[in-house]
Amino acid sequence: MKKGPRISEEHPGALHPIITGDRIAERVAELATRIRSDYEGKDFTIVAVMKGAIFFLVDLLRRIDLPARLDVVHVSSYAGAESSGAVEVLSGITLDIRNRDVLIVDDILDTGLTLRRVIDEVNDRNPRSLKTCVLLSKRRRREVEIQPDYCGFEIADRYVVGYGLDHNDRYRHLPYVAAAE
Ligand code: PRP
Repeated sequence: MKKGPRISEEHPGALHPIITGDRIAERVAELATRIRSDYEGKDFTIVAVMKGAIFFLVDLLRRIDLPARLDVVHVSSYAGAESSGAVEVLSGITLDIRNRDVLIVDDILDTGLTLRRVIDEVNDRNPRSLKTCVLLSKRRRREVEIQPDYCGFEIADRYVVGYGLDHNDRYRHLPYVAAAE
């Protein structure tokens, strides 16, 4: 967790669902249909960004229903990273992705620093192609220019939890995306 507003360590405050579980499921199905048609017949590898992407990844991958290979990277901002912008790779790519068609999956694209770092990690390994897929995007928060290839929802600059997104590593379990006051 990072970028928390002035809210308590334990509780993000009153939570208001802004994207229901049904709406998420609908949108995930739409994205999966597009991805399936774009990647069918290709040597398809998904690289998911831990930990927030877990819920989105599982729902999406089941819907895509292609024999994709799956790898995960675990990255984290350094303490106080809001000012430094540094992103640390805690565990990296293990599959051979050279000459493969790679899709990076993450839950949210905010400043873009995390995705930028993961894109660099993938590109260092010379994939055949590279695209990105995020459930949520806060375009107004962007610090590095990244436009996701597949995006579930463009949202306002509000602190959100649920469906993988956390507050101090809690609230990931919520089946919807909620905004905190
Ligand atoms: C969150 C989220 C994205 C990243 C986006 O991860 O899951 O990976 O922030 O933010 P950015 O665009 O400003 O870099 P976080 O570092 O909170 O870790 P988590 O996935 O374990 O919750």
